[in-house]
Amino acid sequence: MSKTPFVTLEQLKEITKTYPTPFHLYDEKGIRVNAARLRDAFSWNPGFKEYFAVKATPNPFILNILREYGCGCDCSSMTELMMADALHFSGSDIMFSSNATPAEEYVFARKIGATINLDDITHIKYLENCAGLPETISCRYNPGGLFKISNDIMDNPGDAKYGFTTEQLFEGFRILKQKGVKHFGIHAFLASNTVTNEYYPMLAKVLFEVAVHLKKETGADIRFINLSGGIGIPYRPDQQPNDIYQISAGVKKVYEEVLVPAGMGDVALYTELGRYMLGPYGCLVTTAIHQKHTHKEYIGCDACAVNLMRPAMYGAYHHITVMGKEDQPCDHKYDVTGSLCENNDKFAIDRMLPAIDTGDLLVIHDTGAHGFSMGYNYNGKLKSAELLLKEDGSVQMIRRAETPKDYFATFDFCDILDKYL
Ligand SMILES: Cc1ncc(COP(=O)(O)O)c(C=O)c1O
Repeated sequence: MSKTPFVTLEQLKEITKTYPTPFHLYDEKGIRVNAARLRDAFSWNPGFKEYFAVKATPNPFILNILREYGCGCDCSSMTELMMADALHFSGSDIMFSSNATPAEEYVFARKIGATINLDDITHIKYLENCAGLPETISCRYNPGGLFKISNDIMDNPGDAKYGFTTEQLFEGFRILKQKGVKHFGIHAFLASNTVTNEYYPMLAKVLFEVAVHLKKETGADIRFINLSGGIGIPYRPDQQPNDIYQISAGVKKVYEEVLVPAGMGDVALYTELGRYMLGPYGCLVTTAIHQKHTHKEYIGCDACAVNLMRPAMYGAYHHITVMGKEDQPCDHKYDVTGSLCENNDKFAIDRMLPAIDTGDLLVIHDTGAHGFSMGYNYNGKLKSAELLLKEDGSVQMIRRAETPKDYFATFDFCDILDKYL
């Protein structure tokens, strides 16, 4: 089983003449086709809007592409709000789904007119005190327990730090209404990276039913229901990709069964997808720079967990293509590693691949979401550039690589590192 990269060896050889590896490369065409497909799939719901989860790929060039397909921004922090604001996303185009939120972030979110998605009942008072309550507000719901689909445990909301309990949600709506809030939204994110068409319809059922009860019991004017993120992608080549049209049809069925009969057929649906929007349309390109033969066979790359943390953090699988060797037998077992002084800095463990030579280009697939953005600077390693492979085959740098100057910049209050500043 294999995956075909969206870029060829010839293209990569050309790109690396200008941009040294490692770098993240994004596929503009793939991003556009997919965003258009999502919009089309949910076009039956007049208020539908995707608020792209900025944390997945916080790059202004990417946000501007998605905006062409009607996407707004789902922000989780001050800097993400600032990015959305700087790009002139208007207030209603910004969702602020944060948790353990500092007061100044609420103040800024209110200032730019973002829709605030409260994570906890105690945040009502907190927000009221620091920034005042808006006319429209959303609350994040966490029903607890296990989230199951067809006897499969998808995730464990009961163990998740997010959201109001059921009782708190009803109480919270009452309080908010009493305090003058006029319009409401409900949000939930109950399972991550779901590679099944069943997740959204199941989640929709939970949210739609609670919305009907909330309206009945509190009289709240519920304007939108936010299904958030969680639609997954097939990281493994043997996984079946989700079908967004099937997912949408499943949600529509529940909408017509639950919301329409309750007189709520005008409720807008929102999503906050990250992985589904960008994951497959990005890859990390790295060069094999070392081979090590000890108790195992190691390939040492010029990228490391600083560039892609998911394997080190979650043991996540990312498929690897050794460019130019697609047709060769996968008869070598390797650990493909980065250079960090951390033994979990491995992009693949015991992975069967074609024989790798020093200088080979490796494409690490599906890094378009939660890839570059999770990066850090351990071992003083610097973050890579981000490049956009445009529809016409040209390449645009959409973020430059960090330099030592960036790394030392937080010492600019003194002259101790001036030599490198
Ligand atoms: C509040 C919120 N919304 C949306 C997302 C996007 O999730 P995904 O990329 O899995 O679609 C996340 C991911 O962490 C999130 O925390």
